[in-house]
Amino acid sequence: MARINDNYLKLQAGYLFPEIGRRVREFAENNPKADIIKLGIGDVVLPLAESVVEAFKRGVEDMAKEDSFKGYGPEQGYDFLRNAVVENDFAGLGIDADEVFISDGSKCDSGNIQEIFSIDSKVAISDPAYPVYVDTNVMAGRTGAANDSGTYEGIVYMPLNDTNNFSPELPKESVDLIYLCSPNNPTGMTMSRSELKTWVDYAKQNNSIILFDSAYERFITEKDVPKSIYEIEGAKDCAIEFRSFSKTAGFTGVRCAYTVVPKQLMGQSSSGEKISIHSLWNRRHCTKFNGASYPVQKAAAAIYSEKGKAQVDERVSYYMENAKVIREALSEKGFSVFGGVNAPYVWLKTPEPDSWGFFDSLLNSCHVVGTPGAGFGPSGEGYFRLSAFGTKENISTAIERIRNGLPS
Ligand code: MLT
Repeated sequence: MARINDNYLKLQAGYLFPEIGRRVREFAENNPKADIIKLGIGDVVLPLAESVVEAFKRGVEDMAKEDSFKGYGPEQGYDFLRNAVVENDFAGLGIDADEVFISDGSKCDSGNIQEIFSIDSKVAISDPAYPVYVDTNVMAGRTGAANDSGTYEGIVYMPLNDTNNFSPELPKESVDLIYLCSPNNPTGMTMSRSELKTWVDYAKQNNSIILFDSAYERFITEKDVPKSIYEIEGAKDCAIEFRSFSKTAGFTGVRCAYTVVPKQLMGQSSSGEKISIHSLWNRRHCTKFNGASYPVQKAAAAIYSEKGKAQVDERVSYYMENAKVIREALSEKGFSVFGGVNAPYVWLKTPEPDSWGFFDSLLNSCHVVGTPGAGFGPSGEGYFRLSAFGTKENISTAIERIRNGLPS
């Protein structure tokens, strides 16, 4: 019989969002009349911007004509999109278009990146975190079993809580890979320029690589919050950055994202030779990926047009207005509330320490779905995430129900 990858057996429960889906389906079956409002998974609800749709259609029409038909494209993405990315998202930061790898999602990129690093790498991950970071390292065999507290042996956890203002502290030991996410999923909090500089300095001193997830940068509303790690001097020597069109431009069902790997970023082989991380990621990308589809890349490039930018801004503001409404209502009700200012997620302290218990109370008493903090890691216990990705109407109904139906 074929032997399986035993590392998969170390994974605790199912992946977070399908698990929430399962519980919600069960509740809906038992309560068929309940009008359930889902603010769990951060999934967009507004349709694609008009200019994106136009470009998408034109991309499909190109495929319908012999003279503009496209077969396989460049694995790393078309130049029109890579150029638009560097000109708009990294202006003045010295990123070259060939350092941008277009893909079909940041979930895949942030999950796949670990495979170009040694299985012996010491990995530091903030806790709570987007579950992909931990789970993919478990699957790869970089950890031991999970212990009773829900942590995996071998991972260096960096707790985020209200005592450290949800900013990860430097590990006491030297680590090889560091996952940072700002604006943070799930806490909705951001890292300041000086905090990021501390991390870049640490990474350079320890020859570590920072895996910087900035999928939510477009939601930053406050001045002087860094959007890219490359705003910090020296980051090109020690950091990879992930960005996504999913939340920014409503691409969760379209699928397009990119990863920036600077050419000067180096790792080391077991024989001590310096190796370009860019060349390894390029090799992996070309071997395992055939590029995002041409119409999808056309659609993504449209968000950088003048019209596209304005239409995307409207959508971002719509969700951030929702975040404000959620924040204010929960604060009024007496909850301690974090995030939601530079990110579409509001992170609240639950009245009871058990965040799955709070999930059940909210579902039962208000028919509102959120995400229990414990699903993002043990330090998420006692917290809860509400997503601002809903219609205005649903958000205000959910808030009304929480105001009236939930003990604070
Ligand atoms: C989330 O809710 O954390 C995200 O939507 C999940 C994802 O981006 O994969």
